Amino acid sequence: MTPGQLNGAMPTGQSLLAIRDLDLFFDTRQGPVQALAGVTLDLAPGESLGIVGETGSGKSMTARAVMGLLPKSGRISGGSIRLKGQELTGLSARALRAIRGRQVAMVFQEAKRALNPVKTIGSQIMEAARARDGVTKAQAWERCLTQLARVGLPDPDRVMRSYSFELSGGMAQRVMIAIATVAGAELIIADEPTAALDVSIQAQILDLLNQLRSDLGTALVMITHDLGVAAENCDRIAVMYLGQIVEIAPADRLFQDPRHPYTCALIAALPSPEQRGRPIGEVRRVAPPPKGYAYADRRLGRGGVNPDKAQMIEVAEGHFVACQQPLPGAQAADGGRE
Ligand SMILES: Nc1ncnc2c1ncn2[C@@H]1O[C@H](COP(=O)(O)OP(=O)(O)OP(=O)(O)O)[C@@H](O)[C@H]1O
Ligand SMILES: [Mg+2]
Repeated sequence: MTPGQLNGAMPTGQSLLAIRDLDLFFDTRQGPVQALAGVTLDLAPGESLGIVGETGSGKSMTARAVMGLLPKSGRISGGSIRLKGQELTGLSARALRAIRGRQVAMVFQEAKRALNPVKTIGSQIMEAARARDGVTKAQAWERCLTQLARVGLPDPDRVMRSYSFELSGGMAQRVMIAIATVAGAELIIADEPTAALDVSIQAQILDLLNQLRSDLGTALVMITHDLGVAAENCDRIAVMYLGQIVEIAPADRLFQDPRHPYTCALIAALPSPEQRGRPIGEVRRVAPPPKGYAYADRRLGRGGVNPDKAQMIEVAEGHFVACQQPLPGAQAADGGRE
């Protein structure tokens, strides 16, 4: 298989994370409900990928499946998740716990709620630091202080002695990021990391994640409702809709030449550059979905997932769209040649 033959997939050897055809169901009283249908994506070491899409589209469940943190009623019924070549589906809870922190860590929206209120920050970050192999207690302590300083907390000793209720939302998120990075995880998954924060603090936390990525070479999956945030902070963007990735492309390409009607609608819904105060690229006219197109009437199967698993088509290098009939390219739409 050549790179890109399967939904933008690279050969597994080059991927830090390789998800293939992942299906996820929830067992409910009304029967099984499908939440993910054939999710496929790759992440290279050090790369940042934004995952965007409306509420319920499957962004968090994709992340949680990688982390082994699915709700109890969730069941992976098909597909695979490989981290540096190691298959994660089917691993025991214990094995997954060992991978969390050491290799992959998650940053959640509500940092204060994610922290344990009855343990000091020091004991929580030490637990993460000691997950690293062959680290003495003294070395771990030093690492914690270094990492707290690195995430921009001015008095790391004091933070170590604090409890979560003593921290502001922004400080708590910095602590969570320090916990995520202290054991040397190569992949951080941030699920709406700034949604609960003031706008000015949001920008600081995004800058911090980017800084860590360039300093430590950590790969980043950033889940966000805000396509503008993904565009500014991520190398590539995956658009999720009804439990599937419907388009995945380098960030600038996605804006210049969106092919999926849902992506076009998302871009059209962005505030204008004047309103946001920053450029978002040229948004071309959104064509109506072609006749016969799977998403045109938003037919839903059980759990809101699209019953017609659309084939991914590579419309340009690294640009994939799930579509029976992708929209024509920007030049073609303007009457030019592709
Ligand atoms: N415990 C559960 N039981 C049944 N269905 C669930 C459960 N948790 C999530 N789901 C369903 O899985 C689907 C995907 O949910 P997910 O949380 O991944 O969405 P999301 O894209 O992260 O949305 P949001 O932007 O609101 O966070 C949704 O349809 C949701 O209703
Ligand atoms: Mg979510």
